[in-house]
Amino acid sequence: MQVGKVYLVGAGPGDPGLLTVRGLEVLRIAEVVIYDRLVNPVLLEETPPEAERIFAGKFAGNHSLPQEEIHQLLITHAKRGLVVVRLKGGDPFVFGRGGEEAEALVSAGIPFEIVPGISSALAVPAYAGIPLTHRGMSSSFAVITGHEACKASPAVDWKGLATAVDTLVILMGLKNLPGIVAQLLVNGRSPETPAALIRWGTTGKQEIVTGTLADIAGKAATLRPPVVVVIGEVVSLSEKLRWFEAPCLTVEMLPRIRADELASQP
Ligand SMILES: C[S@@+](CC[C@H](N)C(=O)[O-])C[C@H]1O[C@@H](n2cnc3c(N)ncnc32)[C@H](O)[C@@H]1O
Repeated sequence: MQVGKVYLVGAGPGDPGLLTVRGLEVLRIAEVVIYDRLVNPVLLEETPPEAERIFAGKFAGNHSLPQEEIHQLLITHAKRGLVVVRLKGGDPFVFGRGGEEAEALVSAGIPFEIVPGISSALAVPAYAGIPLTHRGMSSSFAVITGHEACKASPAVDWKGLATAVDTLVILMGLKNLPGIVAQLLVNGRSPETPAALIRWGTTGKQEIVTGTLADIAGKAATLRPPVVVVIGEVVSLSEKLRWFEAPCLTVEMLPRIRADELASQP
């Protein structure tokens, strides 16, 4: 029996217009789609009506499908000879466990393709008018998980990050924000450093809260995930460069790339 193929696809950060052309192509040939919570559901409308849609969404502290089961789903459906799309928020290889899924596919001998997506780490600050690098202000940035801030032996080098990197972009950082701030302050970052929290960035629900390292944790008290935290001088550009106010784009606005439509153009 012929083995199918698994596509590990980045859905982008929320605005469906940020799906890549390749991502749209493979969604349109999917026979099974296994998708995560932060994937914009309008993208599923691009799959064929007969495609099976499986929600593997993860809620903080409550993984609705264990990672091992997701691996098994991918392998089982591919072994049935099907085109399987594993649709993940942002980019599959940026805090998306895409590497683990690819390893499982290699072990099982399943062919796969990685379709990178636009990570929230890049797009969410951009939609808030925050350039991650800016001449004279920031020559480097780092993307960090917020899960490591409060551990006794964190896997993140907070001292190095506090002093050697201009712009810090922290994913999954809301819950541990007081710990993150403490790590940066104790390791020498100025309390005056501008900071921003961007919730549901790139979507019609986008909210931006700005402050400084000294007061941002207090301002976060009422926010709920998903939030991207940005720390660095570039946050001060947000007010001037803020541009995004439009409601979430709809699937009708997606680029139409079907061959029949191209053929019918004059
Ligand atoms: C498990 S990580 C997945 C990151 C994803 N692979 C990416 O490249 O964007 C989930 C975190 O990404 C961030 N995130 C993803 N989409 C977001 C959005 N639209 N607005 C704000 N934060 C977002 C939040 O920090 C959230 O907790």
